[in-house]
Amino acid sequence: MAGAGTAANRHQFYQIIFLFPIFMQTKQDHYALLVEQVRSLISGESNRIGILANVAALLSAEMKWWWTGFYLVNGERLELGPFQGPVACFTIKKGRGVCGTAWERGVTIVVPDVEQFPGHIACSAASRSEIVVPLFGADGQVVAVLDVDSEHLSTFDDTDARYLEQVAAIVSAQIGW
Ligand code: SME
Repeated sequence: MAGAGTAANRHQFYQIIFLFPIFMQTKQDHYALLVEQVRSLISGESNRIGILANVAALLSAEMKWWWTGFYLVNGERLELGPFQGPVACFTIKKGRGVCGTAWERGVTIVVPDVEQFPGHIACSAASRSEIVVPLFGADGQVVAVLDVDSEHLSTFDDTDARYLEQVAAIVSAQIGW
């Protein structure tokens, strides 16, 4: 009996050792892989809408966010681009909402609680937290923003900002903005 118990314990030990890396994948690990997936997904492509649509689809499928998509700069407003999630606002003025503010300031904005962000535009009542990352053209101007919404509070932090900025830079470069 003692021998059987030992074998069972050993089996459990090996299970824990081998499964540990799968369960303990950190957010950084997941993003590092995701960034490489984005790079290889759009490598060699030039279809702007196709690139944005597929990147939104990949990010959404991997991260299971509520809304993931792009708004594109057109004159003094942002226009809805490819996205995954519920229907969204068609246009956003410069300086308005999280997206318009990220565009105007040219910086990533992390919003832990959308109700605390003055002027937040509630395209979906279910959205509780948000991150918006600008995409820059070769001239340094903002050409689009990547907007991600979560139905949970405080979903996004500096890690999301850092990696989504990498994604934004890869997409911008591939499109040739
Ligand atoms: N919440 C955004 C508007 C876009 S939707 O979330 C898709 C904002 O305040 O700019």
